[in-house]
Amino acid sequence: MAVPSPSGLLRGNALRLLRYLVLGAGLAAMMAITVPGLNPQSRSWLVVILWCCLGFFASELAIKSLTGAQAKAERNYFLTSSGIIDLLAVLPIPLALLIGVPADTAWLLVSLWLLKLAPAVPGLALLGRVIEQEARPLASVFVIFLIVLLLSAVALYALERTGQPERFGSLPQSLWWAVTTLTTTGYGDAVPQTFLGRMIAGTVMIFGLGVFGLWTGILATGFAAEHRRRDFIQNWDLVTSVPFLRNLDAPAVIELTHKLRRLDLAERNVVVRRGRPGDCMYFIASGEVEVKVEPQPVRLGAGSFFGEFALLDGGPRRATVVTTMPSTFLVLEVSDFRAFTAHHPELAKAVEREAARRRGTSEEEPLVGAQPASQIPEYRDE
Ligand code: CMP
Repeated sequence: MAVPSPSGLLRGNALRLLRYLVLGAGLAAMMAITVPGLNPQSRSWLVVILWCCLGFFASELAIKSLTGAQAKAERNYFLTSSGIIDLLAVLPIPLALLIGVPADTAWLLVSLWLLKLAPAVPGLALLGRVIEQEARPLASVFVIFLIVLLLSAVALYALERTGQPERFGSLPQSLWWAVTTLTTTGYGDAVPQTFLGRMIAGTVMIFGLGVFGLWTGILATGFAAEHRRRDFIQNWDLVTSVPFLRNLDAPAVIELTHKLRRLDLAERNVVVRRGRPGDCMYFIASGEVEVKVEPQPVRLGAGSFFGEFALLDGGPRRATVVTTMPSTFLVLEVSDFRAFTAHHPELAKAVEREAARRRGTSEEEPLVGAQPASQIPEYRDE
């Protein structure tokens, strides 16, 4: 994959900022133009601003489609979501003016430019995935919503049309009442007068609360599941990148992946401090730390671990450990360590062996990633 150069990134960011500025200017001009009593000169300036913004987006569209064609992109640019958004930003306004829509109305189409913000909102992609995953339960609740909506509209039409023909005189009017009641909006413009009508209205309101509660619940669990899935994939990659853990069998890696928490730290952060109680150990997925031990500090790199002494003997931390570069750790809490090593004694043995070597009671070779280090001048707490 091609990595963009720093100057390319800078240009990309500057262009994005310019696009947002143009978007903001266009929206502000669109709003200002609707203010009654605006003097003609200000109005002309606002129209000039709107045409300039439209010109900017039209040139952007032309450049993107040309560069896409030159690069012989696999998919036609106008069939991609950003191509469609760019087209919607440019074409409708001139088309509306051409077919004779009044200028004040045509310029309201500037609001379509807001669609350009969609790709910049990462949560939208996540929401799309959640809706896709939860489509079946969401659709089931939607069908329940439609059934209650239609049944209540028909019932209220039958019960109220003679008493209130101006409010419930047709099924569409009755449907309007059903929508405002089922969504618990309740404008109060149409209110049933018969006893039975009010009983139905009460039931519909309660159904409304239930339906929206169900939708919220489905979406919330969908979001939580999607987050868990994403964390699992990221943690899996990290776990399998630690050589010490790579030898575990697949079920053990899955179990450990659920238990480990990711921690990203910048350079010169204290990860553990000597003398403090310890309740977790750390596997280094990437980066490097320095263990402040005498006479010579020791550096541990990717694939190694630390913080096991406090877990094994329940005592305080024996050394301060500091990051020497931006690092990513996988953190295993003491309770999870105990639960995991109860099924997988091989991990406990390997950790104990390394701890014994570090205490100087074993002659074994150090595990991957350990080497003597020079002093680091300054550092700060995580
Ligand atoms: P703990 O005492 O919980 O916290 C500090 C950690 O530094 C300690 O666990 C070990 O993981 C690590 N550590 C201590 N001494 C050494 C050593 N000589 N070599 C490498 N790591 C060490």
